[in-house]
Amino acid sequence: MDSLAIITSGGDAPGMNAAIRAIVLSCHKKGIECIGFYHGYNGLIDDDYQTLTPDMVRPIMQYGGTILKSARCPQMHTDEGVKSVVKTLQRHNIKALVVIGGDGSFRGMMALQPHWTGRLIGVPATIDNDLACTDSTIGFSTAVNTATQAIDKIRDTANAFERVFIVEVMGRHSGHIAFNVGLATAAESILSFENCPAQDLAQVKQTLIEQIQTKQQNNHSSFVIVLAENLWPGGPQGLQQALHREAHIDSAVCVLGYIQRGGSPSTEDRILATELAMEAVEAAFTESGVMIGKEQGRIKRSCIIGATEQSKPVDQAIHSVYKLLT
Ligand code: F6P
Repeated sequence: MDSLAIITSGGDAPGMNAAIRAIVLSCHKKGIECIGFYHGYNGLIDDDYQTLTPDMVRPIMQYGGTILKSARCPQMHTDEGVKSVVKTLQRHNIKALVVIGGDGSFRGMMALQPHWTGRLIGVPATIDNDLACTDSTIGFSTAVNTATQAIDKIRDTANAFERVFIVEVMGRHSGHIAFNVGLATAAESILSFENCPAQDLAQVKQTLIEQIQTKQQNNHSSFVIVLAENLWPGGPQGLQQALHREAHIDSAVCVLGYIQRGGSPSTEDRILATELAMEAVEAAFTESGVMIGKEQGRIKRSCIIGATEQSKPVDQAIHSVYKLLT
């Protein structure tokens, strides 16, 4: 019997379980054995695995996290680490490895490719949505919904106290979460990599101070700044201190952090995960080095290198709407 292995790797994303479920059920229908390795590539190095059966995955669709656990794996940057993964795959006679994760996980696949003759398939799952060749990654929709709901709640306090809030959202080095959440919550300001180049931060700060002062003079109201993580020197506290030091503006800071990664996946993420995972099993015995994505409503296979190395800019339409309305 042919065997297919799955790992979930890197930051967990809501919908990973839905993808595991679809792969296991689809393999079962095709008479393919499905083995899940735990903790991403670490499970392949340590030979820590479980044969997955339909009964194990039927009740997991609605849960965030991943039943296979996840981890980052620095050993995949070494020849030794890659070789021990290959040994495990050969020992189990695995014909295809499906990696559910983000760009770091896909780089692991690229490191494996020259050393292993089996087929490598990527399923894009990261809340950051920073992979090309797919409109959305698994987990992005849920993270945006979670952050939107959180900021709606913050807005109540911001309104009640007529207060400035700096809310930091995740995204690593991309602004998909910041822009989508900022737009959905009618944030007065969105500060992200795409509209705040490092060399312009002094000007960005000056403009922000003027916007806050104008708003506060004209009407008593709240002012919500959605700030992308890793953008501002010193983080949201650095910006808070600068506003106070330079313009006596008091503000409150809220870092949304890991709540954006957890929780029950949105309907959109469950469906996307299921569609991409089923196509991954189809691809697994005919192609290698591909990522399964969905663009403009169509499921497609793209070269893993392109998906990982091209950048995916925030939708220009979202930029334009934000500019028009602020
Ligand atoms: O890639 C997902 C993500 O949550 C990023 O948004 C964030 O920068 C990073 O992972 C945090 O990583 P860790 O879980 O290692 O702290």
